[in-house]
Amino acid sequence: MDLAGKVAVVTGGASGIGAALAKAFAAQGAQVAVADLNRPGAEAVAAAVGGIAFETDVSQETSNAALIDTVEGVLGPVDLFCANAGIAFAGSEQSPDEDWDRMWRVNFLSHVYAARYLIPRWTERGGGYFLATASAAGLLTNLGAAQYAVTKHAVVAFAEWLSITYADDGIRVSCLCPQGVLTPILENAGEVIEFLRTTAITPEQVAADVVSAIAEEQFLILPHPEVARYEQRRASDREGWLEGMRQLGRNLKG
Ligand SMILES: NC(=O)c1ccc[n+]([C@@H]2O[C@H](COP(=O)([O-])OP(=O)(O)OC[C@H]3O[C@@H](n4cnc5c(N)ncnc54)[C@H](O)[C@@H]3O)[C@@H](O)[C@H]2O)c1
Repeated sequence: MDLAGKVAVVTGGASGIGAALAKAFAAQGAQVAVADLNRPGAEAVAAAVGGIAFETDVSQETSNAALIDTVEGVLGPVDLFCANAGIAFAGSEQSPDEDWDRMWRVNFLSHVYAARYLIPRWTERGGGYFLATASAAGLLTNLGAAQYAVTKHAVVAFAEWLSITYADDGIRVSCLCPQGVLTPILENAGEVIEFLRTTAITPEQVAADVVSAIAEEQFLILPHPEVARYEQRRASDREGWLEGMRQLGRNLKG
C-alpha cells in the first residue's frame, strides 16, 4: 500500500514504537490519528506530525468503536489501522486473574475490538490494512512473563487468521514481531528481559521496516532478522529449542 494521502490510526501512538510509526507514516504523506491512554503524549505526537490525537483505552470495545467512528468523521475512511498499544510485566500461572485479564484485554482483545468495527467497513469498501504489533515473544516465548508470551501468541494467531480469511476482500495484514526495542517498555521491564537490551534497536529502525513492509504488503515484519532462525529452530527441533530456552533461563539466573 502506498501511504501517501492515506488515513492511518496508531494506537499506543504517544510513545515508543507507536510514536515512531506515526512520524514515519506522516513522512510518507499519510494523515495520522494518534490514539493513546496518555492524552498529553498523544497530543504532543499529533502536533509533531500534523495529525489529530485521541484519548483511547484500547482494552474497551466502546473506546475502539468511538475512535474509529470519530477518525472517520474527521479525517475520512481509515485506510491503515495499527493495533500497537501494549503492556508488559513479569508473571506466571501464580499471577492473579486480574493480571491475566488486564494483559489479555490490552494486548489481545483490543485487536479483536478494532477488527470488529473495521472489517465490515473494509469489506464494503474493497480494502483496508491492519497492522498488528505482536513481538518475537509471539513467535517464540518470553522468559519470566507468561501473560506477555501468551497474549502475543494470540496476536500472531489472530493476525494470520485475518490475513487468510479476508485477503480476497482486499484486506491486507502485517504482523510486527521485534525483539528488544529501546522504549519505556524495555526500560521498565526489569531483569526479566535485561538480555534483550544487548540487541535492542531504536523505534525509528522498527518504523522504517514497517513502512517498507507495508509498501510490499508483506505479512511478517522481523526487525531482528535472527528471529526467523529462532522460529525455524522451534519448528524443526522443538525439544532442542525448549532445552535451549531453559538453559538461557538458567544462565540469566546465574
Ligand atoms: N519495546 C520492546 O522491546 C518491544 C518488543 C516487542 C514488541 N513490543 C510491542 O510494541 C508495542 C508498543 O510498545 P513500546 O515498546 O512502544 O512501549 P511504550 O510503553 O513506549 O508504548 C506503549 C504505549 O501504549 C499505551 N497504552 C498502554 N495501554 C493502553 C491502553 N489500554 N489504551 C491505549 N493505549 C495504551 C501507553 O500509554 C504507551 O504510550 C507493544 O504492543 C509492545 O508489546 C515492544
